[in-house]
Amino acid sequence: MAVEKGYVDAAVDPALDLKAEINRLKKEKGAVVMAHYYQPAEIQDIADYIGDSLALARIAAGLKDAKIIVLCGVHFMGETAKVLCPDKKVLIPDLNAGCSLADSCPADRFAEFVAAHPDHTVISYVNTSIGVKALTDVLVTSGNARKIVDTFPKDAKLIFGPDRNLGNYINSVTGRQMLLWDGACHVHEEFSGEKIAQLKEQYPQAKVLVHPECKRPVQLMADVIGSTAVLLRYAVESEEKEFIVATESGIIHQMQKSCPDKKFIPAPPNDSTCGCNDCRYMKLNTMEKLYNCLRFEEPEILVDAELAEKARRPIERMLELS
Ligand code: 13P
Repeated sequence: MAVEKGYVDAAVDPALDLKAEINRLKKEKGAVVMAHYYQPAEIQDIADYIGDSLALARIAAGLKDAKIIVLCGVHFMGETAKVLCPDKKVLIPDLNAGCSLADSCPADRFAEFVAAHPDHTVISYVNTSIGVKALTDVLVTSGNARKIVDTFPKDAKLIFGPDRNLGNYINSVTGRQMLLWDGACHVHEEFSGEKIAQLKEQYPQAKVLVHPECKRPVQLMADVIGSTAVLLRYAVESEEKEFIVATESGIIHQMQKSCPDKKFIPAPPNDSTCGCNDCRYMKLNTMEKLYNCLRFEEPEILVDAELAEKARRPIERMLELS
């Protein structure tokens, strides 16, 4: 089946019980569905595994029996799974599900940056292409960046790419001056301290949960800064009842599911009157595309074998260190 549009565009009978069909295909084909917390709620609900970027990489690395992995997330997550599981077929419902942050760091320009600082160790965020990973000494996610950076001596010369907000945050909490690549995520850059201050007036008791890809003024308003998994855990364990959530709104589905009696208020993007902040790439994946993807086993994530070999080293180093 052709995937000219980046996904299988086969007609799906509207009367079909998609949930039942997806479950049937998973079983029949020995497939597992992995979903990031930013996926649409119905995809999170049908996934075999759900997690933040770190959890998804860990789970992929440990998968034994599955023949097929359907990565419901964005492209770099599928690439990471493929690098870790070269013998498995890795599928993604829509190949157009890219990442603005990964796109802000083209491998050829990053190679020039690295070459200009030959005495530096290269630390990269997992939100990167396989080409950037291949230029990297150790990868991090938002869930382990601080811990991994702290494994290096205080005076180590470090490059950190591509997210400038996460890099600045790690510099501030570790007292370092890592050289930063000037990249950012289009969703997290949109949050504003001003809008959160307005929400705080409305909900003075609310705790403010912030992803470290947000800008500094937003970070300064946070009660807790962390990866999606850290924010979710905080919401579950906290005695508080109201939370303002400054990250992609998909996470609120798990928060609400885990804590039905608590109130989660999505922080809005700065330039809009709408209530929440969606990643347009994450939300390209739909139940219909997931169904067709399992049905036709396309589109598949394919990686260059030589690059994959180079990219595996920093991913495995991350998994060892975290
Ligand atoms: P985490 O999954 O590490 O929270 O980060 C998600 C992400 O990709 C943010 O853009």
